[in-house]
Amino acid sequence: MLASQVRSAVGDVVDPELRCQLAELGMVRHVGAGRRGRVRVDIALTTPNCPMSEQIRHDVAAAAERVAGVKRCEVRLSTMSPDERDLAARYAIEGRAPSDPRAIYAVASGKGGVGKSSIAANLAVALARQGRRVGLIDADVWGYSVPQLFGVHRAPVAMNGRMIPVHAHGIALMSLGFFVGSNEPIVWRGPMLHKALTQFVTDTFWGDLDVLILDLPPGTGDVTLSVLELLPDAALVAVTTPQLAARSVASRVGALAKQVRMPVAGVIENMSELVCPHCAQPSRLFGAGGGEQLATEIGCQVLGQIPLDVELRESGDRGVPVVVARPESASALALCRAAAQLRPVRRPLAGRPLGLTPNHPKEDAR
Ligand SMILES: Nc1ncnc2c1ncn2[C@@H]1O[C@H](COP(=O)(O)OP(=O)(O)OP(=O)(O)O)[C@@H](O)[C@H]1O
Ligand SMILES: [Mg+2]
Repeated sequence: MLASQVRSAVGDVVDPELRCQLAELGMVRHVGAGRRGRVRVDIALTTPNCPMSEQIRHDVAAAAERVAGVKRCEVRLSTMSPDERDLAARYAIEGRAPSDPRAIYAVASGKGGVGKSSIAANLAVALARQGRRVGLIDADVWGYSVPQLFGVHRAPVAMNGRMIPVHAHGIALMSLGFFVGSNEPIVWRGPMLHKALTQFVTDTFWGDLDVLILDLPPGTGDVTLSVLELLPDAALVAVTTPQLAARSVASRVGALAKQVRMPVAGVIENMSELVCPHCAQPSRLFGAGGGEQLATEIGCQVLGQIPLDVELRESGDRGVPVVVARPESASALALCRAAAQLRPVRRPLAGRPLGLTPNHPKEDAR
């Protein structure tokens, strides 16, 4: 009786990477109830060096110990046979019909360091908090930041020839940074980058996402064009600072969107004002009006103004997006408001983008 209650409770635990219940994947093996509320649960992992084994062990023990009458649960881990693993993979990958995400947003900017990655990461988390299933592709193949921003540094698991995105803070993630050492330089040129991005988009099992967000490298070069080619419905979220002098650089990305008929979701002005515990009132360190001007130029709305906030920087450095780490902070609140403004946008005219040639121009200088 107790054993079957425990089996049912641990069977409901969700595999953190495959996003299916352990019972569905056939991972729950023997469940035994001993004396004085002691139980033992045997779990077969899908892969021998499962990076999530300790989390699974913890989640299984916690689920078992929530059953009335259970005092302590011992979890023993083993590995599935190749045939069992194949069955589990088929269930996880082919058993769930993936659907195209309803909305794809490409976070881009004319120049580097304006906060694209921080904004992409936090928009993703804010949307997930609204109940959406969200994926994030780190398309900045040279200067990837997603592993740092989400505090994850493990390689994705591959099953039946598909990569399973790494999950952190409720977001399905893919980044080149998961595959290379932290100080290894990426010395790829256009065709290899295009191949890597293709794998992120088509050879990765994203499942049924509501929203896919892309964190682009700065500028309007190779990667940006590859992304537009692979995902022609991606809508631009242009990030800029309020500094009017930076506008001509920022507007390049708007001009690109126009040229390739890319749908535009809006502009986010980052570093709008400095919020600081020692200042009597917010200070406009980078001036004012850049976001509004860029939006007018592109013909879209300003989705939000995000303050320059030490909480955002510190959370990013700790590997927890500020919307999760400090949801009450000024930057997190502004990011959640911006996420709430996002709406799926349709491509203005049907067809693939224009102006994409195999002879990609070089990526803009950072
Ligand atoms: N609103 C903000 N408040 C405080 N710090 C911020 C803010 N936005 C970004 N930063 C900090 O600025 C730095 C650059 O941000 P981020 O990496 O997100 O920019 P980026 O546009 O993606 O850069 P790159 O062009 O190199 O990809 C980071 O250290 C980040 O923590
Ligand atoms: Mg970045």
